[in-house]
Parts: sequence; C-alpha cells; structure tokens
Amino acid sequence: MTTTLTWYGHATLGLETGGYKLLVDPFFSGNPAAAIRAEDAQADFILVSHGHGDHVGDALTIAQRTGALVISNFEIASWLGEQGLTTHGQHLGGGFKHPFGYLKLTLALHGSALPDGSNGGNPAGFLLTTNDGHKLYLAQDTGLFGDMRLIGEEGIDLAVLPIGDNYTMGPADALRAVKLIQPKHVVPIHYNTWDLIAQDAQAWCTQVQAETGAQAHLLKPGESFTL
Ligand code: NI
Ligand code: MN
Repeated sequence: MTTTLTWYGHATLGLETGGYKLLVDPFFSGNPAAAIRAEDAQADFILVSHGHGDHVGDALTIAQRTGALVISNFEIASWLGEQGLTTHGQHLGGGFKHPFGYLKLTLALHGSALPDGSNGGNPAGFLLTTNDGHKLYLAQDTGLFGDMRLIGEEGIDLAVLPIGDNYTMGPADALRAVKLIQPKHVVPIHYNTWDLIAQDAQAWCTQVQAETGAQAHLLKPGESFTL
C-alpha cells in the first residue's frame, strides 16, 4: 500500500492512501497558485485545519458535490454542518480511527476566525497514521513551537511544513522545525502564493539536506510525492 501526497499550491494537499482520497485545506478558487479547479477536485474526506479563507476555501462546494465527510475542529465542523455538510468534529490532542487511518489534531500557533467572523475555535495541524503504518505530520499554518519535538517522537515519515514567513514560520524557523521533528521526508508549503510569502524553496531544501537527516522534496503545484 502506498500513500501519495499532491501539493496543489498554497496549503492545499491531496492525499491518496489505501484507496481513499483526502483533500486538505482545499483552496482553489482565488488561489493564484492552484494547480486544478475546484470543480475538478475529488475527495472522499476533506480536512480543514483552521477557519481562514485560504484554508476553508472551496470545502463547502466540493463537499456538496462529492458528498465528502469534512473533518475539522468542533467549531468549524459545526459551522459547516449548519450549512448542510456531513462533518466530524475533533479537537486538539484528540485522535479518531477513520477509514483512511488514525487522525489526530495537533497544536498550531495561529488564528482561526471563519470568513463570516464566526468563532473558528483553535487552529490545528494533522498527525495521520495511515492503515499501513506511515506517519504524516501536516503542520499547515503555524509558527514554530517546541512541542513539535513531541510530535517528532512519534516517528514521522513525512512532514509538511509552511516556509512562507509573514503568516507562518519562515525558512529559518521551518529549518529549526525539521530539527525538532526529525522526519524522514519533508515538503515545504504555504509560499509563493503571493509576493508577501515569496521564498526560495530550492535554497531551503538544500539547507535542510545539508543540516538535517531529512530528505527535502521540492514540488511544483500539481506534483506528487509517494511514500
Ligand atoms: Ni491561516
Ligand atoms: Mn494560510
């Protein structure tokens, strides 16, 4: 069994594992870096890390079209549930065995207000243990925090980390995050969508390879990495 991660630009990820299709923070409409259109996105499950518009994104319309189950924190799950979606609410530190694997919500240092100003609870990252035992840490939007070391203690095969700076960790803190987490593989996200978060991801990957034991994978929007 393999697990394939596709980066669609910004923080939008596709995961295929054990025959299930997952979309994480599906932001296609209005995303200048998006590799595909929202209308073409497929999903059995949609994961939403926090309430900001560039992460809730097209979750509503994609879930309406596909019937995907939306997984998020309790507040965002309730907000989307009120709009007619089928949802599953979890919370930080809580895990649940879904058909695609065991998903735990992790701490994230960020905000989470929803697009209409509703309370989006606390922002989260995702720690996924696939059915064949791979561990993926999808940090999504966060600043650096020391408890990334605890996440790393679980033995991370693949970490997905923001490097864009301004709204999240920049390259220097993301490098420190790799040293705390010690993943086998790392993929940078949340950069180059707009000038404000423009970064030299190639240089960052080179530095990760030089200073840590992780293999860094530079993807273009639409490209995939298979574990
Ligand atoms: Ni955000
Ligand atoms: Mn964001």
